[in-house]
Amino acid sequence: MDINEVGFTAFVIASIRALEQDRSPALFSDPHAAWFSNDRALGAARQLDQVFPPSTTMVRFRTRYFNRFLERGMAEGARQVVLLGGGFDMRAHHLARPGVSFFEVDQRAVLEFKQAVLAERGHRQPPSLYGNYLEVDVPHGLAKVGFDPEAPTLIVWEGNTMYLPPELILPFLNRLAGAIPSFRIAFDYFSVDLQKREFENPEDMRRLEGVEKAMGASFPTGFPDLGIFEEHAPYRVAESGTFAELGVEFGLGEMVAAYPEDWRETLKLYRYCVLERRGA
Ligand SMILES: C[S@@+](CC[C@H](N)C(=O)[O-])C[C@H]1O[C@@H](n2cnc3c(N)ncnc32)[C@H](O)[C@@H]1O
Repeated sequence: MDINEVGFTAFVIASIRALEQDRSPALFSDPHAAWFSNDRALGAARQLDQVFPPSTTMVRFRTRYFNRFLERGMAEGARQVVLLGGGFDMRAHHLARPGVSFFEVDQRAVLEFKQAVLAERGHRQPPSLYGNYLEVDVPHGLAKVGFDPEAPTLIVWEGNTMYLPPELILPFLNRLAGAIPSFRIAFDYFSVDLQKREFENPEDMRRLEGVEKAMGASFPTGFPDLGIFEEHAPYRVAESGTFAELGVEFGLGEMVAAYPEDWRETLKLYRYCVLERRGA
């Protein structure tokens, strides 16, 4: 197995999800996450909380948020779901609905590991595209495993944007929009220019760098202005906000309100966005 630094991050996120069943209130149920947890990744999760205590809580919020994105979208008629850079996401198993097909895209080593773990436990990997999605033709590759480019589609792009080379993101999103007429793509992101790293508060930079160190990967990309997706690609920003704000809806508003003021300021930098392909 040759899983690189970015692939390792999938184990860390699965480890955080695996701890959810012991929490009260639990924000979601991911009974299979523990299959993809290990001591090294659990150590990284602990390190995240040492560097900036709300870090793993924000991963919990984002999991719940992307679940909600899928549940609402499927109720509104989406027929396909793509887990893009899905890592050890098990939503294809536990959010499955009749009439909705799930697809996964990730690096070969990550998906082969996942497939082997599932096979040992009598489960099947959903139809998948193996490879670097910035390099391969994603719509065409998915079509080969049963994806219908014409069917209404939801794409979850969770825990990915920050790891990607910034100059490749708009071309990638333009290629998707050119081949798939009707879809929404939801992602999390940092709302700062991570090339320039001009933080108003130096504490924010220290925290971000601590998170990079714990994850064992760097974050070259943030989006200070979501307008780029409307100006330079055919999308409309359908939703956006900070994860911390979702605390109230998720029953943890008091916990977030009790965070020190400067933690709450830092948390304004970690956000979600849903882009809808214009004309969809
Ligand atoms: C932080 S993990 C998140 C995994 C999953 N979405 C989640 O939230 O649990 C990032 C995942 O994206 C995958 N990834 C990042 N960039 C990729 C690329 N260019 N091509 C394919 N996979 C990529 C990594 O291999 C890894 O599995």
